[in-house]
Amino acid sequence: KTVDDLSGLQGKKVLVRCDFNVPLKEGVIQNFNRIDGAVPTIKKLLDQGAKVILCSHLGKPKGEPLPEMSLEPVAPALSERLGVEVKFVNDPKVTGSETRKVAGELKDGEVLLLQNTRYRAEETKYGKDENAEEYAKELASLCDGIFVNDAFGTAHRAHCSNVGVTKYTTTNVVGYLMEKEIKFLGQAVENPVRPFVAILGGAKVSDKINVINNLLDKVDTLIIGGGMAYTFEKAQGKEIGNSLCEEDKLDYALEMIKKAKDKGVNLLLPVDNVEGLEFSNDTERKVVEVIDAGWSGFDIGPKTIELFKAALKDAKTVVWNGPMGVFEFSNFAEGTLEVCRAVAELSDATTVIGGGDSVNAVKRLGFADKMTHISTGGGASLEFLEGKELPGVAAADNK
Ligand code: 3PG
Repeated sequence: KTVDDLSGLQGKKVLVRCDFNVPLKEGVIQNFNRIDGAVPTIKKLLDQGAKVILCSHLGKPKGEPLPEMSLEPVAPALSERLGVEVKFVNDPKVTGSETRKVAGELKDGEVLLLQNTRYRAEETKYGKDENAEEYAKELASLCDGIFVNDAFGTAHRAHCSNVGVTKYTTTNVVGYLMEKEIKFLGQAVENPVRPFVAILGGAKVSDKINVINNLLDKVDTLIIGGGMAYTFEKAQGKEIGNSLCEEDKLDYALEMIKKAKDKGVNLLLPVDNVEGLEFSNDTERKVVEVIDAGWSGFDIGPKTIELFKAALKDAKTVVWNGPMGVFEFSNFAEGTLEVCRAVAELSDATTVIGGGDSVNAVKRLGFADKMTHISTGGGASLEFLEGKELPGVAAADNK
């Protein structure tokens, strides 16, 4: 059930769980993806005359009302996008008397943003602490029994404000962002148009163990680049110099190489690399097939770029998570840039970008508009790709 299934909202207080866990630098929001992503659902509710109460966590304040993790900067950013003032109550208790008063006085079409739900330690203890049950109840009591979960980024958590609250409301539905995320990630993984190519990168194999394992059951081609590729290279007996390597994952890497073979999956690993002497943009660098002793691989090389591009050429579904190298350094960004370009140029494929770093890469490199879907979930999209049921999704439309 989605917001489209709600009716009779005029004058009703609706609680909406968003994921406004946005990067902040000295109180200034660095990335508006998650805020932009929440706008369609909020607008829809406002158009129907609802009184909208928004909640979210930000960072991990662990029950402390830390000012640097206040949601206050989100209110003006949202006001600007909605064209409606977003009220904000700086309430360390989140559901305290001032908040209840402002929520109670909301007029039709008005919006209130609550303070960071994690200012209360109970938030992350749902199911483990009696007080958490009370907190979930308090959150639910702010609205007229209608709860909308639009926080895909938080869907892998079972917390008071996304799961607990659903026990104390009468109607629970998903918002448009959540619906879109489930649709694109779900279709890619469960019902992909083939050939289905997944691209995995990023620093660590250990972050993606279950993702690799699950995707090998689904894809036609699995491309592995970035720091995690060196563990696979070493497992195959290649020299990798000082490149990133997780010694305790070498056996796992071999197991995955075998699984790919058994399943007939085309597993592609780098065949050349751009190595550097030190971890800096201006360090000396070389293109090599085998990393030299004392050097580290920081990007995939030109032959690898061609190999990966060729594998992407006919793809009809692409899921990408994790950069191909240290793309923050312009001298080691070529691999990520070229793979990004190859994905962006696929005109009739569904292209889904999941995970924080690959999303940043796609945006920074200017290809965001060319992708079918850019996920707002980091951990959540990874757990989705692992094939796990996400508690936030499971509870989202349970009544
Ligand atoms: C995220 O940014 O991945 C989500 O907002 C969840 O945040 P968390 O890892 O602090 O629970």
